Amino acid sequence: MTVVDLSDHAEEFAADPYPYYAKLRAAGPVHRVRTESAGEVWLIVGHDEARRALANPRLSKDWRISGLWDETSADNLISANMLETDPPHHTRLRGLVAREFTGRRIEALRPQVQRVTDELLDAMTAGENRTADLVDSLAFPLPMTVICELLGVPDLDRAAFRGWSNEIVAPTGAEAEGAAVQAMGEYLAELVEDKRSSPGDDLMSALIRTQDEDGDRLTPDELIGMAFLLLIAGHETTVNLISNGVRALLAHPEQLAALRADFGLIDSAVEEMLRYDGPVENATYRFAREPFEIGGLVIPAGDSVLVSLAAAADGAADRFPDPDRFDITRTAATGKGRGPGHLAFGHGLHFCLGAPLARMEGRIAVRTLLERCPDLALAPDGGPLEWLPGLLMRGVRRLEVRW
Ligand code: HEM
Repeated sequence: MTVVDLSDHAEEFAADPYPYYAKLRAAGPVHRVRTESAGEVWLIVGHDEARRALANPRLSKDWRISGLWDETSADNLISANMLETDPPHHTRLRGLVAREFTGRRIEALRPQVQRVTDELLDAMTAGENRTADLVDSLAFPLPMTVICELLGVPDLDRAAFRGWSNEIVAPTGAEAEGAAVQAMGEYLAELVEDKRSSPGDDLMSALIRTQDEDGDRLTPDELIGMAFLLLIAGHETTVNLISNGVRALLAHPEQLAALRADFGLIDSAVEEMLRYDGPVENATYRFAREPFEIGGLVIPAGDSVLVSLAAAADGAADRFPDPDRFDITRTAATGKGRGPGHLAFGHGLHFCLGAPLARMEGRIAVRTLLERCPDLALAPDGGPLEWLPGLLMRGVRRLEVRW
């Protein structure tokens, strides 16, 4: 079969992958593609096929069955996490933290999220010069501060952490990625040890103490894996929700005006931001446990599979007519009736645990930013956008704005 080389037009693809995904989708729901980082893999671009794949237990999240597992790799330090495990291990890990992320628990964090947003915007708007990098001023520090406060690591070395974390989710090369994983694993091991010796009233301390009814508790590796996943997933994605979302609004003045005229639209606006240009372009790797038939093709056992959330969201034409249009009033996107329909938070067992937190952060950040900066615009001399490399994340490194 034809192998599509995704690295052929790497720069154009990174800047705007949607036309490429649309072309692939028109040709069929499942493709064999060559990627720069992982060689040849299967890419699922059809909406129904993506849902099926994300919910199918024959596609495993466990690297050990992938044939790519290396006993000695530094990755193993951080891979004992729920996103890289299958039931029953996944069920157990997720069960130990799920109660901390329910809609009600997260709602209780609202004043804190608003306070952090206000403080960041105070700092951003304090100077004379009325321009700023929105990523640096708001989109990155907001989710990072919130997840650090939640976990109880307010003094995290954010500059170092951000460097490793960026490298892990959007690697610039295998060597740099390996070094980042190693450094991150060692740093987190120390962090967990510190927490163990001086616990507080926070999630990490609770996880160290936690035992379920059967007396089960997290092993030291699982604690490191949990801290890793929550810290990374807690900020690397929401940063792109805020920056991609604001970029979309600024590029569509009539939509921006509609939102400014009625902030009651903020919930559906954030759903549309997630659908239109979501933070996660492709879900994390899955591996076929056994031959897996999908979209008229058979994926052999052991092969790696990427599910394209970006491609699949656009493919749901029955829910989202005219999918290339950014429309913050789409009724289907409000979560009423059949649910949001986009796949920005994934689907199935690994559906994003942090979705209620991410939605709240996105809504508060965008609304407060627009209220504080009534004439917000892209900075004219902001320079070209630099896109995150790799297939996982969709976002820019900087977003220069003025007001
Ligand atoms: C807009 C922001 C966010 C987006 C778009 C997003 C997206 C996703 C997606 C697509 C997955 C599934 C990946 C897969 O199946 O391969 C996922 C899983 C996960 N997310 Fe998020 N996420 C966001 C924010 C957050 C936040 C704030 C947290 C906070 C703790 C979080 C924690 C997690 C966790 C723990 C998982 C793994 C769940 C499991 O394996 O059962 N996410 N997220």
